[in-house]
Amino acid sequence: MDTMDNNDNIKNPLNQVNSEFNNNNNIYNGKIIDELVIVVSDELKLSQAVARKTRELGVYSEVLIYRNGLNEADTLAKINQIADELKSKNPAGIIFINELSNKTDNLLLNEISKFNKPILQIKETDEEILKDFLFNKCKLSGGWNVKTFIEKSVLDIKNKVGDKKVLCGLSGGVDSSVTAVLVNRAVGKQLSCIFVDHGLLRKYEAEQVENIFKTQFDINLIKVNAQDRFLDKLSGIRDPEKKRKIIGEEFIRVFEEEAKRIGEIDFLAQGTIYPDVIESGIDKSSVVKRHHNVGGLPEKIGFKGLIEPLKYLFKDEVIMVGRELGIPESIILRQPFPGPGLAVRVIGEVNKEKLDILRDADFIFREEIEKAGLNKELSQYFAVLTDVRSVGVRNGIRTYDYTIALRAIKTNDFMTVDWVRLPYDVLAETVYRIVNEVDHINRVVYDITPKPPATVEWE
Ligand code: XMP
Repeated sequence: MDTMDNNDNIKNPLNQVNSEFNNNNNIYNGKIIDELVIVVSDELKLSQAVARKTRELGVYSEVLIYRNGLNEADTLAKINQIADELKSKNPAGIIFINELSNKTDNLLLNEISKFNKPILQIKETDEEILKDFLFNKCKLSGGWNVKTFIEKSVLDIKNKVGDKKVLCGLSGGVDSSVTAVLVNRAVGKQLSCIFVDHGLLRKYEAEQVENIFKTQFDINLIKVNAQDRFLDKLSGIRDPEKKRKIIGEEFIRVFEEEAKRIGEIDFLAQGTIYPDVIESGIDKSSVVKRHHNVGGLPEKIGFKGLIEPLKYLFKDEVIMVGRELGIPESIILRQPFPGPGLAVRVIGEVNKEKLDILRDADFIFREEIEKAGLNKELSQYFAVLTDVRSVGVRNGIRTYDYTIALRAIKTNDFMTVDWVRLPYDVLAETVYRIVNEVDHINRVVYDITPKPPATVEWE
């Protein structure tokens, strides 16, 4: 590469992308990046762990899940479906995880064997066995990694979008942020992002999102200030599910209005990730998760196609892609935050005064957790404004003020959750600051209930 090229590449990183690929766009620095193996299993967690491991070793993998114990017709249908998928995807090798303890397993193995591709039968993840299978038996080169993923995705998005327009709903969460930055890298100003400030965000959150995406990434970001609209709609509403419904519907309305202003939209970019794809349709628990998703697809926008660049990535890969794209840690390490935001953390009726009290207390708690260096160990930590007022005393005068609850939890899957034994000093400093810095709070409690029976959120 001569000096001219180098200068050009600095100005436009996409040139660099092209120059490293061969004509087929599938060889990068001499290694093939789109080699594929398929993991077939009835074990959701194990199959994902194996798929993650093969990718770590440089070979892209996908998961096909089946269930044992179906009736005969369903079993046969599932086996045919898996066979069809294997046929269309044509993997270089198949990893079959099971105990071969029943009829379905054996039928499936028989079907898979017809493909004449190397098959690895395992019951657990073992790096050496996987390496031997991938590189000796399947003779793969191992060119897949986060970097080549990004560069290939950028090319794919560019090809798909052409000179058309893309719209993306940005929440400030990891998945939508990484999606937006990736699509922006591919098509720049052809992408518009809509960020709805519904007034239920945490302290400084809207400013942070605007600052990062507008200033740092120069993304076409439309920040919609819809705080009054949401608060008007929520006025007088106490029921948690009603609140969720109102917020979900209003969110779609606001999103549609803004989308209309942009004009004709060709593509909608979404931050769907692989575990959602794998789980949907096979795992009942995903229904529980999905009911949470506020602001699902606005169907009336009338876009022509979807762009889902993270559809085949696991969560930790999304995080690695985000880091590689230069997204700051404040977004990358952001804890999950519910779509209805602080509306489900203000118990009972929501109003601006209560939200401001909660925002201040929550900010202090998060600051103290981060100061103590505990944030990376926790899955979620936040404050809740309870609907309880109680008697207290301040400067010798009787008060009758709110109780704040603090919640800090750890979990692998959010289905079962444990509360975190925070150091007393961290709790003490948090409480001291909250009662001294935030008006109208005279009592703070720490929630030490696991899930089940309690949920993470209070509403
Ligand atoms: P629960 O409270 O059900 O929470 O134990 C499990 C996880 O889901 C998040 N959560 C929500 N996310 N909309 C969302 O997008 C919601 O309405 C909602 N409710 C709970 C919660 O923060 C936790 O991560």
